[in-house]
Amino acid sequence: MNPMLEAALGLADQLRWASRLHLPEMPSGERVLVTGMGGSGISGDIAGLLAGEAGRLALVHKSYGLPGWAARERPLVVAVSYSGNTEETLSAVAAAQELQLPMVAISTGGKLAEIARTAGAPHVEIPSGLQPRAALGYLAGAVSMVLEAAGVLPDQVGGLQEAASVLDSLFGKDGQGPGAELAEDLAEGLVGRVPVIYGGPGGSGVAALRWKTQFNENSKRAAYASWLPELDHNELVGWASIPELTRRVIGIVELRDSAEHPRVAKRFELTRQIAGADVAFVGTVWAQGETTWAKLASLIGIGDLVSLFVAAQAGVDPLPVAPIEMLKQRLAEE
Ligand code: PA5
Repeated sequence: MNPMLEAALGLADQLRWASRLHLPEMPSGERVLVTGMGGSGISGDIAGLLAGEAGRLALVHKSYGLPGWAARERPLVVAVSYSGNTEETLSAVAAAQELQLPMVAISTGGKLAEIARTAGAPHVEIPSGLQPRAALGYLAGAVSMVLEAAGVLPDQVGGLQEAASVLDSLFGKDGQGPGAELAEDLAEGLVGRVPVIYGGPGGSGVAALRWKTQFNENSKRAAYASWLPELDHNELVGWASIPELTRRVIGIVELRDSAEHPRVAKRFELTRQIAGADVAFVGTVWAQGETTWAKLASLIGIGDLVSLFVAAQAGVDPLPVAPIEMLKQRLAEE
């Protein structure tokens, strides 16, 4: 089995691993800033969602340094980098150290682990040997357990375990379940097309971002994500002008949640009627389960598979991300 497919089907086990983490006491903070990039940074988007639902504030930071408000609000900084060597994340950590902010580091090792060790800050070690984006269950699960241990989030174990069970029933042990069939159908609709993923507010919106980045990195394909209700105020107008092109190359996938706001549900229907006329394909995926974790994992799990099936159809190896490596190399030489 392709190692990326194996890792995608391992998402349930990664979430179970996170649910069993026994963490020491964690520093706390009224607010949280999760700093990380790419496949690591999305765990900050997930943390932001979980915190918002718990009535707390966690923001994700995907750049150098720290945002200006950090000096005044003194957030708990959670630095997430699978490799532990990502320069933007290390720059944010250096800024946090300058301000003497409470910090927790999450990585497989790298400079981030060394910095945490030297500073006496907690470091959660993630299993190594994967591509960062293939370790989302470890990374995001660990972030949520850290925030539980810091008293920011309520119990995470129930949600992580439900997410793992939902993934088991979607994919089975061998990746042959109903989720895989749906993923194959969606991949069929996206053959030779540019995926545009529509999410709603909340979990389906975070999942839409993950789908986009998985198409980029696994399928090596341009892909875009947009969010309702906002896209109804701009993007909706953009489909009508070059239908001879968009009817050939654009495939929209809607990510839905049965608990979405009723007006968002209505907007999804109307948006499909209006935009659907000018694109080649529209597919829909509904989130499964009860908890935020389960809903997120079901949408993400199916999206990961679709991106891998699209890569397989195109004869593309989903594993290497040569342009990212080349850019990192060139930056290191500067
Ligand atoms: O998926 C990837 O390989 C990238 O998006 C990386 O996650 C990103 O470059 C950041 O690296 P790291 O996750 O090691 O901090």
